[in-house]
Amino acid sequence: MPNVAYVNGKWVALQSATISVEDRGFQFGDGVYEVMRTYYGQVFHLTGHIERLLESADQVQIRPRETPGQIQKIIEAGCKKTGYKETKIYVQITRGIAPRLHSFPKNNRPTSVYTFREMTVIPQKTRSQGVSVISVEDIRWGRCHVKSLNLLPNVLAREQALQSGAYEALFVRNGWVWEGAGSNLFAILDQQIVTPPKGPFLLSGITREQVIQLGQKMGMPLREAEISLEDIYRADEVFLTGTTIEILPVVRVNGRKIGTGKPGKITQRLSSAFEEEVRVLHGHP
Ligand SMILES: Cc1ncc(COP(=O)(O)O)c(C=O)c1O
Repeated sequence: MPNVAYVNGKWVALQSATISVEDRGFQFGDGVYEVMRTYYGQVFHLTGHIERLLESADQVQIRPRETPGQIQKIIEAGCKKTGYKETKIYVQITRGIAPRLHSFPKNNRPTSVYTFREMTVIPQKTRSQGVSVISVEDIRWGRCHVKSLNLLPNVLAREQALQSGAYEALFVRNGWVWEGAGSNLFAILDQQIVTPPKGPFLLSGITREQVIQLGQKMGMPLREAEISLEDIYRADEVFLTGTTIEILPVVRVNGRKIGTGKPGKITQRLSSAFEEEVRVLHGHP
């Protein structure tokens, strides 16, 4: 069965999966989510994703109907059901169905939706050429570490990027560049890998964490520090990280060339090491 969903305890074909119009996820964006992918048929850092989902849910006082163990089992079962070589998984947990009032409903059962579809990867050409990005004002709230369903600023930023011929938008708040609309940011500055520090202004990416660990394992100097737009312009290399994009080189920011205007050497080294790491982690060395 391709493209499946698991909605409040029931497996259905994705195209027939529905939720109530009274669901608070629909009414208020009152919920949290996760995106995961498989490599060699196994979910990449499943435990990390489940932990982050539960942390996000906890931050907005939602207690998912499933335990971490049940969440894991549902995700593994869904990947088997699709039968795809590689699967992309979304988990969305909302505060549930209730008459439309801002305040929390009493004794509400959260909604949980899991969807499974084929994982499509970025074309190799895009990866080897690198991408252009723009910067936009960060109009998001002050709890960006919560993976909330409220993605309107991200949606607007990404659309603005696409309309200006760019791939991604970088959020700038008080002069500091924090992350992309759906990705984390790294720069090579003065021979060091630099990425903005965890906190309320960025989502702590699973891929970001892996890249930091890889850099450390490879003995590369790495620092978590604020990065200004001026730093970005003078950086030797810039790249984005995320579950679906992995490590993606950035070669232009607001039309300005970064480094040589081609994907840099450190980015390439990290990308190869990341690929290798995935193979080893998933038993395909
Ligand atoms: C705003 C934002 N930052 C960063 C990321 C990257 O996180 P991860 O590496 O866990 O996919 C995402 C991914 O969805 C995101 O939406």
